[in-house]
Amino acid sequence: MKVDVLLGLQWGDEGKGKVVDVLTPRYDVVARFQGGPNAGHTLEFEGQKYVLRSIPSGIFQGDKVNIIGNGVVLDPALFKAEAEALEKSGHDLRKKLHISKKAHLILPTHRFLDAAYEAAKGDSKVGTTGKGIGPTYADKISRTGLRVGDILCDFETKYAKAKTRHEQILRSMGFSYDLSSVEKEWLEGIDYLKRFPLVDSEHEVNGILAEGKTILAEGAQGTMLDVDFGSYPFVTSSSTICAGACVGLGVSPHRIGEVYGIFKAYCTRVGSGPFPTEQKNEIGEKIGELGHEFGAVTGRKRRCGWIDLVALKYAVMINGVTQLIMMKSDVLDSFDTIKACVAYEVGGKEIDYFPYEVDDSVKPVYVEIPGWNCDLTGMTSENEFPEEFNQYLSFLENELGVPIKIVSVGPDREQTIIRYQD
Ligand code: GDP
Ligand code: IMO
Ligand code: MG
Repeated sequence: MKVDVLLGLQWGDEGKGKVVDVLTPRYDVVARFQGGPNAGHTLEFEGQKYVLRSIPSGIFQGDKVNIIGNGVVLDPALFKAEAEALEKSGHDLRKKLHISKKAHLILPTHRFLDAAYEAAKGDSKVGTTGKGIGPTYADKISRTGLRVGDILCDFETKYAKAKTRHEQILRSMGFSYDLSSVEKEWLEGIDYLKRFPLVDSEHEVNGILAEGKTILAEGAQGTMLDVDFGSYPFVTSSSTICAGACVGLGVSPHRIGEVYGIFKAYCTRVGSGPFPTEQKNEIGEKIGELGHEFGAVTGRKRRCGWIDLVALKYAVMINGVTQLIMMKSDVLDSFDTIKACVAYEVGGKEIDYFPYEVDDSVKPVYVEIPGWNCDLTGMTSENEFPEEFNQYLSFLENELGVPIKIVSVGPDREQTIIRYQD
């Protein structure tokens, strides 16, 4: 059988967690393939709200196995806190959460390095989540990283070596830090990890497929934060795109089935970097307020703006999206007019493709669409959609060339409308 991939098409926080939870009943297994605790995936159901960072969002649907794949970077201390909180609220994770031995470990010193590199960048800092993501992936590529499997054999020596190397860099940068305050709970996290099945996930994943079962691969971040195709250097350090699922789980490209591309009815971004449709005005404030646009991980205020179809088309192309999912439609319920960016003006010329360089000189070209001015949040079927909302959906489908198969009208699991049921 196939691996279907669900991934963000914008700058993250599109609502991936909610939709993975909604789609999980259709699959046998859910697997994360990249990123780490920089992710914050929010799920709401039965009056409860959960934010997942390293644990896949299929964890609440029965006994389905959830896998943390080899492409993920894992902070044992944060993982322990996240898993213990879930166990306290009655969710038994022990048997159903499997962790790849090839996933890389985020060390406490990686977090300090993240902070040190950001400080050294000054005004041009990336605005990272501060979770040590970049330095951990850098060690992976430099072939000096530690992996989950390393905790099973002679870990102390390996850890001491990596720590010494990191501390030399930190000292050379004149960065002051207090390792003792965080190292103890990190080492407790290392012990805690051993309670979970630590697996050769590439064998497990391919075995599951060979048995005729299905897998949903859950992306983190978004295409515009991809290390190759995002707004470099203001990106994260992993492959957030569909191809990342092959590398991050160990599956062949011919195993990929549906590619669900998820986007908000508007656009947000956290951290630095270009954002052509950003509204630094009362419109952006209103979207932020109605959409509660604050980071699930850092609590930072998200930058808000209109939907950017130039960037979205690019993301659809890079990922080979087969189905679109539109989130947070309800946030635009009270706008008389909605704008959509259909081209960029660069140096007096209009272009409709995402260029190499996107800076402040890029001006968005908008079309205006009438708003629907009514409350979508209670709607349960697309038959209830107002005409103007249908027009917005048709306009986007036309521009992007892919059907919007799911529409979300609120944060709760139930506020999800499946269109064109297969
Ligand atoms: P993720 O990182 O892609 O999983 O997204 P986040 O969880 O960081 O951010 C999405 C936010 O929007 C969360 O607070 C969700 O509860 C919320 N959300 C998801 N879908 C909807 C929706 O359709 N309407 C509204 N108003 N909120 C939503
Ligand atoms: P989810 O999965 C939104 C952003 C950071 C920063 C850049 C690099 O919840 O959508 P990093 O810590 O990864 O080195 O930061 O990427 N970023 C996210 N923005 N949602 C996320 O995850 C993000 N993960 C990282 O704000 O600009
Ligand atoms: Mg998020």
